[in-house]
Formats: sequence, C-alpha cells, structure tokens
Amino acid sequence: MAREFSETTITDAVIERMATTPDPRTLEVLTSLVTHLHAFARETRLTVPEWMNAIEFLTRTGQTCTDTRQEFILLSDTLGLSMLVDVINHATGGTESTVLGPFYVPNIAVSPNGSDITNGRRGQPMLVESQVTNIAGTPIAEALVEVWHSDDAGFYDVQQPELPFPALRGTFRTDERGRFSFWSIYPHFYPIPTDGPVGEMLMATKRHPFRPAHVHFMISAPCHERLVTHVFTHGDPYLDSDAVFAVKHSLVNTFAEMPAGPAPDGRTLDRPWRHLAYDFRLVPS
Ligand code: BEZ
Ligand code: FE
Repeated sequence: MAREFSETTITDAVIERMATTPDPRTLEVLTSLVTHLHAFARETRLTVPEWMNAIEFLTRTGQTCTDTRQEFILLSDTLGLSMLVDVINHATGGTESTVLGPFYVPNIAVSPNGSDITNGRRGQPMLVESQVTNIAGTPIAEALVEVWHSDDAGFYDVQQPELPFPALRGTFRTDERGRFSFWSIYPHFYPIPTDGPVGEMLMATKRHPFRPAHVHFMISAPCHERLVTHVFTHGDPYLDSDAVFAVKHSLVNTFAEMPAGPAPDGRTLDRPWRHLAYDFRLVPS
C-alpha cells in the first residue's frame, strides 16, 4: 500500500528519508532546513500562488547573477542572513568583522605605503593611517591589506567600466611596525543595486537601498584569522538603517576634518582634507 502523508506527518517522513545521508553535518543541516521550511509553510498557511511567486522570485534571483553580480548574496545581505552568519562565526577579541560585499576584486598589485589610489577620481583628499597588531598589541609586519571604497557620488570603480581601473582600491603590506597608509578620497553613502529582484523586495517592503559611507578592509597575515571589515564614517545619515545591517559600533570612526596645509606624511594640501587613524587587531587562527 502506498504511504500517504498529512500536514502533520510529512515533515518526519522527509527527515526519515534523509537518514541515509552519510555526512553527519549535511544530515544535521538538511534536517533542520526541512523542519523550519515546513514549519514556515504551516505557520503562514502558505498559498499555492504565494509558493509560485517565491519560486519565480528565486528563479529571477539566479538569472540576475553574472560573473560580476551575485544577486543571491545581495538577497542574503538584505535579509540579514549574511550578518547573522558573520556574528555566529566571528572570532571575538579582535577588530569586529562585517560583510564582504560584491565589490571586492582579488589580486590587485601591491602599492608602496603612502601611495595615492585615486587614479584620477576627484573628491576630498583622505589620508588613512593605520597599524595592524595581534590581540596583545604586538605589531604584525608584512600583513597583506586590501582596501576598496566608493567615490564621493557612491560608485565603485567596477561600476564605471569607462573609467580607469583600479581606482579607490589598493593593496598594501604593513611595515616592520605593522603600519600602512594611503591617500584616497572621502567616500559617500550609496545605494545597493536595485534593478533586480532584491530591488523588488525593497520596494515591496518600502525599504531604502542605502549603505552608510565606509572603507572596506581585508587583512591577511600568517597564523591569524583573515579580517574582513569596513570602517564607517561617523555622522553618516544611514548608520542606523544600513540596507544590509552591517554596521557595528566599534567600526564607526571619525574621519577628522583637517585644514589646508601640511599633512603628517609631508604632503601639503591646498584645501581641507580628511584623516582616518584607525588600528586593526587580528585574532590568532
Ligand atoms: C558593499 O559594502 O560594498 C556592499 C555590501 C553588501 C551589499 C552591497 C554592497
Ligand atoms: Fe561597500
């Protein structure tokens, strides 16, 4: 006789069917996924048109992905899942981490400390000076520091293929005292891409798409956890409502307004500029 399932028995039947899964972690994750997915459908009394809508939405999300656009990660970001996973997995004691985002580009050539990474982009000059240490405060020499940020209109270089690349993006190595520095321009808040399914979701929920201004850092050193984080600009209007929930208090910092004149590295500025002094602490791996 064929086995028939009801609203109350189908969840256990699916879980039972998966009991043959050899890898224990795969079994654990799939069992939990089926449990929560079924509970969600029961709780909301999900209708067939709603189920079909969801299937079509996820299909469009996949179809929007390209080599340079990851709409599923954006969906995860805007639903808070990326930050939840970050919080669950964050090693404590060092600088806090946050989302990677879609605009990271690997393998950018290393520039000397103090370089200007604007590559022709105009804006208010910004000097970043930093030291990388371990959690005991001992400097980490030769750490690889990758940085990237938007311009003063909120665009990343990868969104402007008609302009020179790389710009507002660079890679540095810390010196023997763990320090690195570079010149760039002060970033601005910007909207995440809204021309795909994630944009539909934001519209349907009347959410704005903006991220507060920030500079991204990825810092790697042997024997330490790789740090993926941002430093946010103090006073940004979107700090309290980041579209991807990625702000942590410890990552908000003043980018000090400095008058025209000499900068600490000897450069002379003919107009006011910004100075970010922020240190990073890596946890051991
Ligand atoms: C970003 O900061 O570059 C970013 C992060 C998540 C979604 C979109 C953009
Ligand atoms: Fe960003």
